[in-house]
Formats: sequence, C-alpha cells, structure tokens
Amino acid sequence: MHFTLPKIWAMTSPSYTVGTARRCFALVPAAGSGSRSGADGPKQYVELAGRAMLAHTLDALAQVPELVATLVVLAPDDDQFESAVPGFQGIVARCGGASRAETVANGLAVLAEQGALPHDWVLVHDAARCLIRPEWVAHLIATCADDEVGGLLALPLADTLKQAGADVGAGARITHTIDRRSKWAAQTPQMFRLGLLRPALLQAGEDVTDEASAVEALGHSPRLVEGALENFKITWPADFVLAERLLRTRT
Ligand code: CTP
Ligand code: MG
Repeated sequence: MHFTLPKIWAMTSPSYTVGTARRCFALVPAAGSGSRSGADGPKQYVELAGRAMLAHTLDALAQVPELVATLVVLAPDDDQFESAVPGFQGIVARCGGASRAETVANGLAVLAEQGALPHDWVLVHDAARCLIRPEWVAHLIATCADDEVGGLLALPLADTLKQAGADVGAGARITHTIDRRSKWAAQTPQMFRLGLLRPALLQAGEDVTDEASAVEALGHSPRLVEGALENFKITWPADFVLAERLLRTRT
C-alpha cells in the first residue's frame, strides 16, 4: 500500500513508503542521577506514596491503550529497576548515556532494533514526571496523530518572567523583565515520528534538554498541546513532598 507522504517525510526520508498503520511507542529516559533533587540515590527510585517514582510513571503509561509498547532506558549499572518496578511488561534497556539526549537517542536505536518503523510515533516521557495521567497522554496522541511534525504537552506561562544577572543563588537580582506573552513551559510526553526524531537528536548533540528543541533545530514547528500543572517534573527536594501529597489524595 502506498499513500502520499506528508511533507515532513519527503524532507527526512525521501524514499520511504508506508505499508503499515502508525503505531505509538513510549520511551522513558530513566538514567539520570537526580543531582538537583538532594536524594541519596537516583531520584526515579525515591518512594512516593509507597512506590518508586518510576513505578508510578510506568503504571500510568501502561494504562494508555494507544501505546503498543513502552521502553524504559536505564543507566548501564542500574541494579534497582527489577525490585522497584516488579512485573513491568515493557522493554528494558540498560543503555542510558551521559545526557538525557544521549539516553533518548540510544533508546530510539533499541526501538528501531525491536521493529519500530520510521513513521511510528515515539512519545518520550521523563521518568521524573510521575504524576502523568493516562488521559493526558491520550489527549496528546489524539491531537497530534495527524500532525506533520508532532507535538508536546506544555503550559502557557502564568508567572511574570524575570531575567536574573550572573548570580543564580540567594543573591540573585533582576536585570530585566521578559514579556511572558506567547511563552510556554515544555513538559513531556513529547511525540515525534522515529524517522524524524533520530536524525534530529543526532544533529542536535548532547545539550538539548528536550526532543522538541532538536526538531526545532531542523526548522520544524512542533505543536503545543495544553497540559496540566500537575504534570510537573520532580527536580528539587521540595517537589517530592508536593508529589507525595498529590499522589495520596488522588481518586
Ligand atoms: N535522564 C536520563 N539520562 C541522563 C540524564 C537524565 O535518562 N543522562 C532522564 C532522567 O532520569 C529524567 C529525565 O531524563 O527522567 C529528565 O531529566 P532531569 O529531570 O534533569 O533528571 P536528572 O538529570 O536525573 O536530574 P538532575 O538534572 O537534577 O541531575
Ligand atoms: Mg538532568
């Protein structure tokens, strides 16, 4: 079966023809150290409401019917996953890299080895966003399924944005105020086709902190899909307390 390739495919994979329906895979980078979190070990294994953060994240993804499989990418020396996430039904790869971008790029190679095709969607979701709800993922998929580029959950900025000077700690001072109109905070999942995301990440290098930046660098405009404030990334010590409270009071 052949059909007209979307523009994006013509640009990234000129000779590609599509013979099967597009599938959605999840890829969860979980190879970080959590250096800002103040935790003793990697933050994805900190227990929240009785289970490791990563277990909450993977459990939510397992409840998204549109996802055909979830790949979790761990650090090569990870020895906690099997005990922290018993009974995980997805694919586990211990090929995490030195940066988030490298971890994701290594994971994409595994998905390709496992049979994911260039036109299949990959939803990259931070292990550290353990408050994700299945319906938010489904909403992203429904919104972007026919998009030529792909998209991500994100939030329009509510607070007034201040540019600080060189001091970032307690002595920080404002140099000027940034217009917050049209500013969004990027979350995850971020949803792109494998055949676009792989070359984008390879070209972008290690410094990009999300997939959209890599895709933007190729000249594309990913779609912003309004997410939820609760889908925040656990980054700082105080975030654990808030996440625990939210998880315990969920219905
Ligand atoms: N991540 C990864 N491989 C890396 C770095 C990060 O898989 N080399 C993952 C983290 O495990 C996390 C996600 O990317 O799920 C988002 O990164 P971040 O919140 O920055 O986590 P860490 O890098 O672990 O934390 P920090 O930056 O504070 O060290
Ligand atoms: Mg990091």
